[in-house]
Formats: sequence, C-alpha cells, structure tokens
Amino acid sequence: MKKVIVAVMALGMLMAGVVQSAEALHNPGGTGGVESLRGASEIETTRAADPMKRYPRDQGVIDSDYVYQPPLIPHTIRNYEVSQNANKCLACHSWKNAKDMGATKISVTHYQSPRQGQVLSDVSPSRYFCLQCHVPQADAKPLVGNDFQRVDALR
Ligand code: HEC
Ligand code: HEC
Repeated sequence: MKKVIVAVMALGMLMAGVVQSAEALHNPGGTGGVESLRGASEIETTRAADPMKRYPRDQGVIDSDYVYQPPLIPHTIRNYEVSQNANKCLACHSWKNAKDMGATKISVTHYQSPRQGQVLSDVSPSRYFCLQCHVPQADAKPLVGNDFQRVDALR
C-alpha cells in the first residue's frame, strides 16, 4: 500500500512538472506574462532602442485643450541642458533674453513663489525644471486610446 501511495505522489509531482514546463515553453522569457504598453523584454536582454521621435518644425504651438495648460514646446530640445549649473531654456525664454532671441518670455507665474504667491526677483525654483511641465510636440502615436475633449470655452 505504501508503495502505491509513493507511486501516486511521484506521478503527481511529475505531472505538475510537465504543466510547469509547458508554461515555460509558452512564455520562455520568464516575464511572468507581464507586458508593458511598450512590449515585453526579458531582464537579461537589452531591447533595441525605440526610433527617435520626429519633432515637426513648422506646425506652430498646438492649441491648448484646457485653461492653464503648460504650452507644448514647438521646437526640438536635443542637447538643451537643464541642470544645477545651466538652464539652456532660460537663455532664450528669460525676460532678459526673450526679446533678443525672438522667443516667448516665461509668464509672471514663473516668478511666483508657490508658498504665498509672492513675486520673486528671479525664476521660482519650482519652475526651474521646465520639462516637468512642458513637453515637446512629437509626432508620436498615442500608446492608449483617448477621447479627451477640449473644454467648451476653448472650442
Ligand atoms: C535657441 C533659443 C531657444 C531655446 C534654447 C529654447 N527655446 Fe523654446 N522657443 C524658442 C522660440 C523662438 C519659440 C517661439 C516658437 C518658435 O519659433 O519655435 C519657442 C517656443 C517655446 C514654447 C511655446 C511658447 C508659446 O508661445 O506658447 C515653449 C513652451 C518653449 N519654447 C519651451 C522651451 C523649453 C522648456 C526649453 C528648454 C528645454 C526651450 N524652450 C528652449 C526658442 C528657444
Ligand atoms: C510647474 C509647471 C511649470 C514649470 C516647471 C514651467 N512652466 Fe512654463 N508654463 C506653465 C503653465 C501652466 C503655463 C501657462 C500658464 C502661465 O502662463 O502660467 C506656462 C507658460 C509658459 C510659457 C508661455 C508664456 C506665455 O505668455 O504664453 C513659456 C514660454 C514657458 N512657460 C516656458 C517655461 C520655461 C522656459 C520653463 C523653465 C525655466 C518653464 N516654463 C517652467 C507651467 C510650467
């Protein structure tokens, strides 16, 4: 009797193993079936880089979809450093340089302290990292569907 039980258990374990390896065949990467919107890649493989996005030059700034939207950036920003040491954006967009560079100057909100709204004498630290809010207008396919509608006042 003991032998029969041992044999049944062994068979059971063997079957479980078969099921597991069938799953491994189905999903050889070991990603556990998890896939992001950009696709799945295994930890040990280096995925090929996505192609560079195109930033169409002559389309102007795309209109806002809601009030107080940070305007999109209508030009490429490749190699524009924004760091502790330098802010390339301000070389054109600061109040001092905007006119000479023919760029839109940052609005007064960028000089306001987020605490009590006092107007500071220079760009507020909370507005220093421009790309937190402004993104370039890329010719990119949306990753997910979207039926967002522009607010009535701007239609
Ligand atoms: C060499 C000068 C230059 C630099 C550097 C620059 N810009 Fe611009 N930017 C412009 C000009 C000029 C325009 C006006 C539209 C145009 O001609 O492309 C503009 C337009 C914009 C606009 C649209 C403003 C509007 O009228 O609604 C935004 C937002 C913007 N830039 C953000 C940035 C950010 C963020 C950076 C840094 C990553 C940056 N820019 C760096 C010159 C510059
Ligand atoms: C916290 C978010 C935020 C950050 C950071 C920020 N902006 Fe803005 N920006 C906005 C919003 C929101 C608007 C539109 C409303 C307004 O003018 O305040 C705007 C407007 C602008 C405009 C258009 C102004 C106009 O009069 O039409 C320019 C140009 C601009 N930002 C450039 C910059 C640059 C350059 C930086 C970095 C030094 C920067 N912004 C950082 C949110 C931000």
